[in-house]
Amino acid sequence: MDKDFSVINFINIKKSGKNHSREEIECFISGVCNGSIKDYQISAWLMAAYIKDLSLDETTWLTMAIANSGDVLDLSHIEGPVIDKHSTGGVGDKTTLIALPMLAACGVKVIKMSGGGLGITGGTSDKLASIPGFNLSLSSEELVSMVNKVGIGIAGLNKNIAPADKILYAIRDTTGTVDSLPLITASILGKKIATGAKHIVIDVKCGSGAFMKDMESAKKLAAMLKKVGGKCGVTVLPIITDMNQILGESAGNALEIVEAIVSLTDIKKSRLMDLSIMLAANSLYLLKLTESVEEGARLVEEKLKNGEVLEKAKRWLCAQGAPEHLFEKPYNYLENSTHLECVKYNGPDVWVSELPAESIGEAVLGLGGGRKHKDDVIDYSVGIRSFIEVGTKVTNGMVIFQIHSKNKDDADRVKNILLKNVKFASHETVQMPVLLDDVLFSA
Ligand code: URA
Repeated sequence: MDKDFSVINFINIKKSGKNHSREEIECFISGVCNGSIKDYQISAWLMAAYIKDLSLDETTWLTMAIANSGDVLDLSHIEGPVIDKHSTGGVGDKTTLIALPMLAACGVKVIKMSGGGLGITGGTSDKLASIPGFNLSLSSEELVSMVNKVGIGIAGLNKNIAPADKILYAIRDTTGTVDSLPLITASILGKKIATGAKHIVIDVKCGSGAFMKDMESAKKLAAMLKKVGGKCGVTVLPIITDMNQILGESAGNALEIVEAIVSLTDIKKSRLMDLSIMLAANSLYLLKLTESVEEGARLVEEKLKNGEVLEKAKRWLCAQGAPEHLFEKPYNYLENSTHLECVKYNGPDVWVSELPAESIGEAVLGLGGGRKHKDDVIDYSVGIRSFIEVGTKVTNGMVIFQIHSKNKDDADRVKNILLKNVKFASHETVQMPVLLDDVLFSA
């Protein structure tokens, strides 16, 4: 660290609302990583940055300093167009498991390092870890070789990638400084840039089950990700999607793997499928492989129908260690919960008007299917299947949820949460479209 750098000055600069230089931000991140700046000083700066905000330049420098705080992956050995896909975090979001094989079937290489879920939002690496034998501990070389071989490679984030983000995030999580747009932007893009990404499609979730609760903040985050990405030399395509209800019918790790497998095997129109197609189609367009998003969507649908997407999915999962016959009999391989409870609706005919993603996320967390703290151990078998969406007509005696839990007490507790939070109307209701906005050209 520069001997003239003073962390107290650094904090005071932000406290008084002034801007930092690039060198100051680099010195700060280097002090964060080598331990010379203490946690209480980091917290003080994070709160000052949270309240006084960071400029676009400061956010860009912070992003690059986080990216360069550890190893930076070299993807130059991957042949062909490469994309990374990221989600800002939702409930029941298994689009990665569907969109990646779609892209691979269209000749795109997809490489991804994925962190585990925290709080109510699930993480792709946790879902994949529920498959027996699935290997997420690939070295950088193994990951690149996997991508060259089968078109897709996913590994868990290792400790040498963007170590500054781990330290900053852990402190943000306990000091009320998570929901700052510049800090979120630097955290997401810093990790992505460290994993070598040059083109990233980012699903910015918006609604009760997401960080961004309303459209205004989701649009701001999307625009910032795109702008800061551009300044860092990375093309970012943000898409804003609905997270007021869970995506698909299940939330919980093994259940979501089953749902992804069923969606790829028995292709039907659904919000989950629509969003997966849109993510793949926008990626194709971003990489200039199609003239329009619509053309990309048509190509993806063709590859779904002719079985190429399913083939890619099977090859990828098997190459990373999944059992050979997982797709034929997923329940034989994935952990089943020890207790199963059906929740029925009793009453006159009604329509579902609210099915808050947040409550379902909290219910899954309460069953042991997520992490409240970083080191919590996840029970892959637990979760919730929902047989309703906003707009579904519900009649007397209809099963609306299935709770997969460890025991009856857990199931009863969760049943009460669900019944308290799902809302019905006596008239027909409509749901929001899954794709709320894409800001490809507008940001
Ligand atoms: N996801 C991240 O990686 N970082 C944040 O700060 C928020 C969401």
